[in-house]
Amino acid sequence: MSTAEQRAVEIRLEDYTPPDFLIDTVDLTFDLEPSQTHVRSQMKIRRNGDHDRALVLNGEHMTLLNIQVDGRALTENQYVLTETTLTIPDVPDEAHVVIENRIDPASNTALEGLYQSAGNFCTQCEPEGFRRITYFIDRPDVLSRYTVTLIAEADLYPVLLSNGNPVAAEKCTDGKHMARWVDPHPKPSYLFALVAGNLTRITDEFVTLSGKTVELGIYVEAHNADRCDHAMASLKHAMRWDEQVYGREYDLDVFNIVAVDDFNMGAMENKGLNIFNSRYVLAKPDTATDGDYAGIESVVAHEYFHNWSGNRVTCRDWFQLSLKEGFTVFRDQEFSADMGSRAVKRIADVNLLRQVQFAEDAGPQAHPVQPKAYREINNFYTSTVYNKGAEVVRMLRNLLGAETFRQGTDLYFDRFDGQAVTIEDFVSCMAEVSDLDLTEFRQWYDVAGTPKLLVRDEYLEGQYILSIEQVVPESANGHPYMLPFGFALFDEAGEPVLLDGKAEHILIVEQSSQSWTFSIEKKDADLLVPSLNRGFTAPVDVQYDYSDEALGLLSRADTDAFNRWDAFQRRIQRCLVSRIKVAMDVDSVGEDALPEDLSKAFGQLLLEAEQDPMFVAECIALPSENYLADQFEHDTPVEWIHHERVRLRQQLAAEWELTLQLIYQSHAQEGAYRFESRAAGQRQLRRQVLSYLCGLNRPAWTQLAKEQFDRADNMTESFNALIALSVSDSAEFDHVLTAFEARWRHDPLVMDKWFALQAQRSDAGALARVQDLMAHPTFSIKNPNRVRALIGSFARTNPLRFHDRSGSGYQWVADRIIELDAMNPQIAARMASVFNTWKRFDGNRAALMCAALRKIHDRPECSADLAEITGKALGHSFD
Ligand code: BES
Ligand code: ZN
Repeated sequence: MSTAEQRAVEIRLEDYTPPDFLIDTVDLTFDLEPSQTHVRSQMKIRRNGDHDRALVLNGEHMTLLNIQVDGRALTENQYVLTETTLTIPDVPDEAHVVIENRIDPASNTALEGLYQSAGNFCTQCEPEGFRRITYFIDRPDVLSRYTVTLIAEADLYPVLLSNGNPVAAEKCTDGKHMARWVDPHPKPSYLFALVAGNLTRITDEFVTLSGKTVELGIYVEAHNADRCDHAMASLKHAMRWDEQVYGREYDLDVFNIVAVDDFNMGAMENKGLNIFNSRYVLAKPDTATDGDYAGIESVVAHEYFHNWSGNRVTCRDWFQLSLKEGFTVFRDQEFSADMGSRAVKRIADVNLLRQVQFAEDAGPQAHPVQPKAYREINNFYTSTVYNKGAEVVRMLRNLLGAETFRQGTDLYFDRFDGQAVTIEDFVSCMAEVSDLDLTEFRQWYDVAGTPKLLVRDEYLEGQYILSIEQVVPESANGHPYMLPFGFALFDEAGEPVLLDGKAEHILIVEQSSQSWTFSIEKKDADLLVPSLNRGFTAPVDVQYDYSDEALGLLSRADTDAFNRWDAFQRRIQRCLVSRIKVAMDVDSVGEDALPEDLSKAFGQLLLEAEQDPMFVAECIALPSENYLADQFEHDTPVEWIHHERVRLRQQLAAEWELTLQLIYQSHAQEGAYRFESRAAGQRQLRRQVLSYLCGLNRPAWTQLAKEQFDRADNMTESFNALIALSVSDSAEFDHVLTAFEARWRHDPLVMDKWFALQAQRSDAGALARVQDLMAHPTFSIKNPNRVRALIGSFARTNPLRFHDRSGSGYQWVADRIIELDAMNPQIAARMASVFNTWKRFDGNRAALMCAALRKIHDRPECSADLAEITGKALGHSFD
């Protein structure tokens, strides 16, 4: 075990005890200077329970100046200071504690606590950043009322913001000014925020259902003032939606959003003052793609929704993280579904779940939705906590039905308003309003791993029998899961078959092995095709022995759009996986012709392009190389996955070339860019179609892409042309890339697309190119967005070159992770998960990946964040 691993103690859920002290009010005064900010904190503390334990405050990376208890200064022998705590052994049951300390925001590269971005001050406190600002009981079950006074130079930092409502602002005599904010709602320290800087404000208003006017503000650097409309519109949509769907109103006079360029995550829900990574705020048609617009809509909504699911009702401890994140992701998913296309949103969400969460659950970082132990909580903001957590809430909604679920959320918000609670509290509300016994359902929160459902069916004289057997993860000890399972049956003509008189069923699966018998009228049971787990009602891996013909039928006729998509994707995946296996065996790319049924199904989907362009675009998108790689348990055939995927794409394009061309032309844009469902669907379809065509490497099609690039009046069409060209081997790609750079080199968010595309391109020069790009004037390893765009894209979306047999990709990425760790451990730790899969590669690659992990891990200076991730990847057990 490394030094860092030994340093970090394990925190366990079962050890939870309530805090020894509570802090009822805190009054903070900041005198903001880049390298020495002075913080004064006045707290009213109160002993919690009958005990005589000391007051222990968390505090890191700061200089303590002085402490007073009830007006008396403490001498050095009256407290104990360590690198992470301040202990005051002897305090009265109720006391007034005043602490002064100093911090250095300018040299804070970890972007946790108070730091600077583009010269402005901002904060990130979740989960444990507040302890880098001042000494405090930094845990979510200590709720306090905050008053915050900010003092800063008036000309450098004209805008001074914090949580709650503004109550005072005045000029000081020395060129400084001050502002005071009061947040009437008690909150945990992780929701604290402040911003000070030179920012422009975009203003709007929202009138709540009960008639209260809320002032809305978005603060950005002046040159971005024309990129805030979409975020503002999204915010207002989200506010209305939460009133209509959950009956939740906003509760302060102001709601502010600030965009910053340097941010570890996407955005943060600080009470009344959300702080955003600028990529989730800024958009105008010429700089942002449809994907960016959709991302902004959902992140703005997500953070806003936390005002109830997270802020008004918060988490008792960090093991309850999914209580707020899983629930809020479910809320934002449903919001986006209501704003755009429900089916397409579901497809995108399930795709992400299967690609990221299923992989996580099958690897060394697997953990339950409610983890039972952690060393570094930052490492638990995972796809499991977020996306599987959202699926678990979705299952509750599906088990209860929408109306009863709403009664459950009403009860939850009313009963626990102003409290810090547990996942158990949430589930109990759901049990209470329904007549369901949810005891068994808890397993979804407690056990890691993806359950498998083995499904069989049988037709017996007027009866249809469906049997489901659960294969549960090892840690479930054979215990079955409880889950809702959407189900329907289709005949050979693609017509729904009535079962017990109904076309659609939601079955409750709860036993290890279970079967259902339905009466059906159908006499001839030649081809009965079950549509299983419709809409992906449960996050499970369903196995059923479909014929190619049956998959074709479902992809054409299923009345559930998600399952249509899924059926076609399964068909493609089956074709690819079997081709890849053959290629591995004979050590060369296959030569077999395109399977007729697959080609026919593809063509049939294309016929529907006019009706639902976005859906068709999703269907014809081939599974990613990474997802295909997950289908192999060992000796991942990196090269064959790549080459066979390219070959299938070319075969489909060659077979349907004319139709693809027609579709491309008939969906050309009319009028100015608008982010709107059908238009975005058409652009996405044109992107897919153009990529298929460009993959054929014919001048006619690369020319088409070039023309699209030249003519485009919006970033979506312009960048889609670039994407299409990147899959061709045309020299046109480089020309267009250069033109793109010349136009956008001063726009960091746009340049991220340019970096990412080049990192992703699978040609032999990829690693050398990425190395060169590190020296590009726009690149900075200190900025998380740049790092994700360049280094992250190479490691995550260029498997052919990252997994190069020589090990050069591994070594380069490992060295960058080491470099990052000295500045920003969170970003380094997240990046390191690209090595999680090492055991699934051939001996040579596995050894190289393992060596890279050791090199990162075995350094004495390795951060706790990175040591935990790499240690687990290496298979270290922590007990
Ligand atoms: N509370 C989180 C932000 C956060 C995450 C803070 C990790 C500290 C550590 C926020 O609500 C969030 O979940 N943001 C997501 C985006 C969201 C749409 C899923 C993010 O930042 O990725
Ligand atoms: Zn969140």
